[in-house]
Amino acid sequence: MAKLKVAVFASGRGSNLEAIIKECKNGKINAEVVSLFTDNPKAGAIKIANRYGIPFQISDYKDFKSKKEHENAIWEVQKLYEPELIVLAGYMKILSKEFIEERYNYKKGLPGIINIHPSLLPAFPGANAYLDALNWGANYTGATVHFVDTGIDTGLIIAQEKIKIYPSDTFESLERRGLEIEHNLFPKIIGLYADGKIEIKKGEVIIKD
Ligand code: GRF
Repeated sequence: MAKLKVAVFASGRGSNLEAIIKECKNGKINAEVVSLFTDNPKAGAIKIANRYGIPFQISDYKDFKSKKEHENAIWEVQKLYEPELIVLAGYMKILSKEFIEERYNYKKGLPGIINIHPSLLPAFPGANAYLDALNWGANYTGATVHFVDTGIDTGLIIAQEKIKIYPSDTFESLERRGLEIEHNLFPKIIGLYADGKIEIKKGEVIIKD
């Protein structure tokens, strides 16, 4: 079976990008990272793409007059790689309704964009999920992989994994354990997507055995 072509969008460090590339390269999942898009010229993700020979596009929102123009510029390049799935791995911009809807039903009757978020959604959406969980005094948090819709961290949940929070935890210790889980969960879900094992029935995600 042909490999699922994945474009990764990332704004920062890129540790999830690297985890996904590794699982693709070692054949654990039937997918291939065909490109990286970043809106941040200083993103660590660029170095990672370089290291693995993945083509990348850098385009800063500040250089455009509107979100629409920026997204058009992104897609002008990304479409050349013919991605079948867009993976948001620490991508810090909100995509427009149009961009998201154009990628809907893209392949296998599923939304074509997924995201990973460092909490058990719907708890702690937004940009500071680990800190929010710590400050709230939660006993657990986790990681969620979900389809992207037009809200912030609101799309249909595909999979979640729990992490215990200990009284001694700091942001760093919690993030370290969280990332270990993300690096395992995210490629796994991309693999299931590639194998056609994810379905949406009556508004719920079903993972086939
Ligand atoms: C991860 O914690 C992810 O859940 C969130 O942004 C962070 C990205 O980390 N969406 P990295 O750039 O993949 O290292």
